[in-house]
Amino acid sequence: MKKEEEYNEAMPFAYGKIAENKDFAGREKDIEHLTANFKGHVNTTIISPRRWGKTSLVQHVLTMLSKDKKYYTAKVDIFNCRTEEQFFTSYVNAIMKATATKFDAFTQAVKQYLGSFSPKFSISDDGQKVDFSVSLDFHDKNYSIDDILDLPQRIATDKKKNFIVCIDEFQTVNEYDDPIGFQRKLRAHWQLHNSVSYCLFGSKRHMLMDIFGNYEMPFYRFGDIMFLEKIPEDVMSKFVVKRFKDTGKTISPKLAAELVRMVDLHPYYIQQLAQQSWLRTADVCSEEIVKSACNSIVAQLSLLFSNLMDSLTPKQINFLYAIVDGVDNFSSTEVLKKYSLGTSANIKNLRNALVSRDIVDLMPGKKMEIQDPMFVLWLKGLKRPI
Ligand SMILES: Nc1ncnc2c1ncn2[C@@H]1O[C@H](COP(=O)(O)OP(=O)(O)OP(=O)(O)O)[C@@H](O)[C@H]1O
Ligand SMILES: [Mg+2]
Repeated sequence: MKKEEEYNEAMPFAYGKIAENKDFAGREKDIEHLTANFKGHVNTTIISPRRWGKTSLVQHVLTMLSKDKKYYTAKVDIFNCRTEEQFFTSYVNAIMKATATKFDAFTQAVKQYLGSFSPKFSISDDGQKVDFSVSLDFHDKNYSIDDILDLPQRIATDKKKNFIVCIDEFQTVNEYDDPIGFQRKLRAHWQLHNSVSYCLFGSKRHMLMDIFGNYEMPFYRFGDIMFLEKIPEDVMSKFVVKRFKDTGKTISPKLAAELVRMVDLHPYYIQQLAQQSWLRTADVCSEEIVKSACNSIVAQLSLLFSNLMDSLTPKQINFLYAIVDGVDNFSSTEVLKKYSLGTSANIKNLRNALVSRDIVDLMPGKKMEIQDPMFVLWLKGLKRPI
């Protein structure tokens, strides 16, 4: 049996990692949109609540475009970069690796473009994969950050190609020593690049909204903002049905749709719930199986949710209960009284506190929602004091 088939047999669903190949469903319009932006040099920001599939979407489009010789594609995740220097190191490595996949070509290209940074190369081989990287000396007086920021544009012009540069977890730049100054520098350079498309996204929706949607911030109106939606119910339920079928088991289209709705169409939890249901299924999946799989996921998460609750004030908790109950008008006297929310002036503070922690989501023109559907299920199952 081939390796891939073995893998699929054991795990027909994938969560907590980038959804690729058979694990990737739908998103046709988003793929088209992002591809057109990349090809048309339109800078793009992707915003969505956590785990809706931003990273997977970008990876999918990059993989497609990397097959086209006209493009260099680089993706860098800056989650672990806590300083500007760490940012630049990761950035340079990603850009240079996009242009040279072999060590010799890599060292040569780095020396050509970044020789003044006294580059030091390292190479590792864990028996499975050879990896290499470069570190730069940022303390050398001769260095100029401009050279790094203009790197993709310079390479693209030299090689008569286009560069696509994607930066994941971009919100981390807000934590550097001089976040505004840093962002100003990036923007000043990047907006002049006519052979590069930048795509900036990350997992902290609230922070990204501040970076891209606040007109006092350097990245205000940097490019096209894509608000990613969930993948539609029918696409995801067909996906679930097919993955069961591919591995010799069955789930009815009706039950698959129920499964998808149970987690409010959340892509990550659909894959997790489907996987847990699949594991419990001998031949044909039943409603009881899906329910028990769902309960077990909520139970697994309950410690996390209890800790989260401990970090909230009683009024914030009551505010969450009100959302779970479908309350619309938070300022009505009746609601304020029923949920002990204090005065109506309080509501904005309560909402902002929960939004800034990405617990509650406030999408333009939509009803307030709790981001995590499993948290909603857990809250619904709680015995409330009120
Ligand atoms: N197109 C898709 N088809 C099927 N499943 C998907 C798809 N996109 C995402 N998922 C599921 O959602 C999970 C999270 O995806 P991904 O990491 O791409 O989201 P994200 O928005 O980047 O998350 P975060 O906000 O944490 O950065 C994946 O592990 C996978 O289970
Ligand atoms: Mg991500």
